[in-house]
Amino acid sequence: MTTRMAVAHWLVLFVTVFMVSNARDANGTLPAATLKAIAKANGNGPYIGIVILNLYEVNLLLNSSSDSAVEIIDFTCNNYLILVMTGLSGVIHYGIAGNANPALHVGDVAIPQYWAHTGLWNWQIWARSTRKLGHLRFANYTINVTACASHDNLLNNIWYQPEEVFPVTGTPEGRQHQFWVPVGSAYFAMPKKLEGLKLKTCVNVTTCLNYTPSVSTVKRGVSAGVYLDNVAYRSFIYGKFNASPVDMESTSVALICYQQNTSFIAIRALSDLAGGGSTELNEADTFSYLAADNAVTVVVEFIKQLSSSML
Ligand SMILES: *[C@@H]1O[C@H](CO)[C@@H](O)[C@H](O)[C@H]1NC(C)=O
Ligand SMILES: *[C@@H]1O[C@H](CO)[C@@H](O)[C@H](O)[C@H]1NC(C)=O
Ligand SMILES: *[C@@H]1O[C@H](CO)[C@@H](O)[C@H](O)[C@H]1NC(C)=O
Ligand SMILES: *[C@@H]1O[C@H](CO)[C@@H](O)[C@H](O)[C@H]1NC(C)=O
Ligand SMILES: *[C@@H]1O[C@H](CO)[C@@H](O)[C@H](O)[C@H]1NC(C)=O
Ligand SMILES: *[C@@H]1O[C@H](CO)[C@@H](O)[C@H](O)[C@H]1NC(C)=O
Repeated sequence: MTTRMAVAHWLVLFVTVFMVSNARDANGTLPAATLKAIAKANGNGPYIGIVILNLYEVNLLLNSSSDSAVEIIDFTCNNYLILVMTGLSGVIHYGIAGNANPALHVGDVAIPQYWAHTGLWNWQIWARSTRKLGHLRFANYTINVTACASHDNLLNNIWYQPEEVFPVTGTPEGRQHQFWVPVGSAYFAMPKKLEGLKLKTCVNVTTCLNYTPSVSTVKRGVSAGVYLDNVAYRSFIYGKFNASPVDMESTSVALICYQQNTSFIAIRALSDLAGGGSTELNEADTFSYLAADNAVTVVVEFIKQLSSSML
């Protein structure tokens, strides 16, 4: 049975964001070795793709998985994910993230139902399309202007814009605008069973969280090409969008999967408070490895659940 086959094969797509170890060749295509690996992998499918951002997190997963057949393909850019989608029955993405939700904590694992790209803006003078999403008025963040009620700011305002997608299910493919990208509904139902999972609390013998981290599904996560470490923007993004994890990648994977009509889920462990902490240090300096461990713990359990539900 093909579904039985599927659970035996996991395709690890290693997306190298910071390294350019796998540059495109002169004709702008992927290197022959990568194309060969994709063809070989697709020949054995169907697969569930696992998209991972760095080698540390790849190794954590490989060290904790035992019997699944794993193929590793090294990418430099999320866009190339599209090239292998034909062989994938679903995509799991994981990593660490900042946390904008005051009800969650460092070390917790958050699994959003919707993702949005919050790096696509219109500034006031150009905001000719939609002014519905967001609205950040820079003047509202001015300090020490209590004596002046009508202060403005030359940066004016921004609004967010939805992404343009061309779903493969369209005949012909037609343009859609998509801001909130849903994760796969069957995938999203599964983390409910993971909520009691025991997660790591200590970095080492001396540095521990003073609470027990936990797994939860949340309404929303956002991604942008911005490392968020600012309390005002953190509050804004939570207040406007009820966003919990803030990262730099998940939505790009979500958008590609949405466009390709492929189930997707992102599992993000919270490594820091995105600027909302009380110290000047970003918590990720201390807790990123703990968070990475917790993300992998949840991913491994998620894969087990997925495997048994497919049998
Ligand atoms: C690029 O394409 C040309 C024409 O098809 C081919 O001759 C050449 O070998 C390709 N270059 C590389 C680096 O693959
Ligand atoms: C994975 O296991 C290898 C071999 O035991 C070890 O050297 C490495 O540190 C482990 N990596 C992680 C990220 O745990
Ligand atoms: C800016 O602040 C004013 C006064 O508090 C408030 O009425 C308005 O809604 C705020 N605008 C935005 C876009 O946040
Ligand atoms: C506001 O202005 C006062 C007086 O100039 C200054 O002491 C204070 O640090 C300023 N506050 C902020 C948040 O910059
Ligand atoms: C794929 O397309 C079908 C038909 O439009 C839709 O019902 C389904 O939800 C889509 N699946 C995904 C994973 O987007
Ligand atoms: C434990 O980790 C903290 C944070 O990284 C570090 O400051 C401390 O030196 C470590 N302690 C030990 C015993 O390794």
